[in-house]
Amino acid sequence: MKFITVDSYEKLSRKAASVIAAQVVQKNDCVLGLATGSSPVGTYKQLIEWYKKGDLDFSAVTSVNLDEYVGLDGENDQSYRYFMNVNLFDHINIDKAKTFVPDGKADDPKLEGEIYDARIKELGGIDLQLLGIGLDGHIGFNEPDSVFTKETHVVDLHESTIKANARFFENEADVPRKAITMGMLSIMQAKKVLLIANGANKKEILEKAFFGPIDPRVPASILQLHPDLTVIYSEN
Ligand code: F6R
Repeated sequence: MKFITVDSYEKLSRKAASVIAAQVVQKNDCVLGLATGSSPVGTYKQLIEWYKKGDLDFSAVTSVNLDEYVGLDGENDQSYRYFMNVNLFDHINIDKAKTFVPDGKADDPKLEGEIYDARIKELGGIDLQLLGIGLDGHIGFNEPDSVFTKETHVVDLHESTIKANARFFENEADVPRKAITMGMLSIMQAKKVLLIANGANKKEILEKAFFGPIDPRVPASILQLHPDLTVIYSEN
């Protein structure tokens, strides 16, 4: 594991964007695993800037996102599909037909999970998976549990996650209580994993996740077993 500490969100974003850019340059038809939330916004901005300068070409890239709220469709401005469009896809030359986000409106979420995993497999797996980390140690929406779940599945969001995500909604009551998330298998089978975190409030969970025991009650701790993991952290 490479654990890199930087002293600003700008530096974190630039470094994370360099790792993603290198992946796209090395393999123009790579599969990028992408995340939403506050952490990757600066990374996506930097990628957009390099794309606009003509330094990056996303035309052959495929993307698979980690998760989506159950009950929200892609038109809903709180959905993760919408987030991805606004924060990245609308500004680069990626083919939207090759950008995948779990369907939060699927009639049969279990089947949607199976379809999602089959698609990732069909694509040959993920070349580079970008992750954030929740205050409770979740990655994707794999919440603390007594076991690690392999497959893409529906989860009940934990109270701390609902509270943390309430900042994106008008009221806490509007935060969906369920999400569909990629499971640990697709994440762990990604060839490279890049986890980014910023803020003093993430310090404690990072210590637990990367320097403590591997424990499903700290879901990100499983990443200690990944052969190519980079963590970039900025306290500011
Ligand atoms: C989002 C996701 C979540 C976030 C995590 C951290 O797709 O999978 O695991 O990465 O909740 O969120 P932020 O970056 O907002 O602190």
